[in-house]
Formats: sequence, C-alpha cells, structure tokens
Amino acid sequence: MRHWTIVFILFFFIKSCVSLKCYVCNSASNGACGETFKFYQFTAEECVIDNAKCGKQIQPPIIDEKGEEWIGVIRACYQPGSLQNLNESNGCHNWTNADNFDATFCFCDTDGCNAGCPLSCGWTCVVRRLLISALILVCMHYVDTG
Ligand SMILES: *[C@@H]1O[C@H](CO)[C@@H](O)[C@H](O)[C@H]1NC(C)=O
Repeated sequence: MRHWTIVFILFFFIKSCVSLKCYVCNSASNGACGETFKFYQFTAEECVIDNAKCGKQIQPPIIDEKGEEWIGVIRACYQPGSLQNLNESNGCHNWTNADNFDATFCFCDTDGCNAGCPLSCGWTCVVRRLLISALILVCMHYVDTG
C-alpha cells in the first residue's frame, strides 16, 4: 500500500516532460492532421517558446475542387500574445481579424492536448512517468530487502 502511495506521488512530480509538448501539423499538407486526427501518425513535439500553449486552429469549411467540404486545421505550439484580440484562455474561441480572416482557436496546456481527443492523446509522457515510477519502486524494493 505504502508503495502505491509513493508511485502516485512520484508520478506527479517526475518532470520527465519538462517543456510542454504539442502536436505540430496542418491538414493542408497532411490530411491525417484534420478534424479526424490520426494522432498515432504523429509525435508531439517539445515547444521551444516560453509560456507556450498547445493550439489548434480550425478554418471555416470550404468547398474544394472536387466539390467536397474541406476544413483546414493547424496544430502548433502557440505563444500567448502572438495574435491580437484573441482570447487565449483554455478552450475554443472564435477570432476575426481586421482582414476578415475567420478561424476558431483552441488552446490547452497539457502534453499533446491539441490532439483534440476527448481524453488526452498525450500519453507518451504518462507512460514515461509510469515507467520511471516503476523503476524507482523496484530499486527501492531491492534496497528494502537488501
Ligand atoms: C475568455 O474566454 C473565457 C472562457 O471561454 C471567458 O470566461 C473569459 O471571460 C474570456 N475573456 C475575455 C477577455 O473575453
């Protein structure tokens, strides 16, 4: 029981993922980045900017040359303050700029959260933390029993 408590504590304090990781892609160059996000085809990348948030930008649908509806989606690390008059709190916000450019921006701040999955697809850090916790636990066990 005591060991589980330690694993639990370790899990939340191990900073195996120091900087925020976000998915970086756009549906114009890769359809798998679209609204139906095939997250398993991507790896979340570490954001190199300060105070980054994960962002997802969704364009209003357009009709492509085949007459099909196409929605542009961009996923990226977002630096708060980059766009004027945009509500940068977590969640989705509509944004129209002076040139009548229209888009919805969604922000969040946990690893891989801009996948847009109901549950975070940013499981790589979770798995890594669990492994490190387990490793420490095993080491402690050997120390305990000599
Ligand atoms: C930004 O959005 C949040 C929630 O969506 C809302 O509570 C807040 O008032 C908004 N802030 C501004 C400055 O509009």
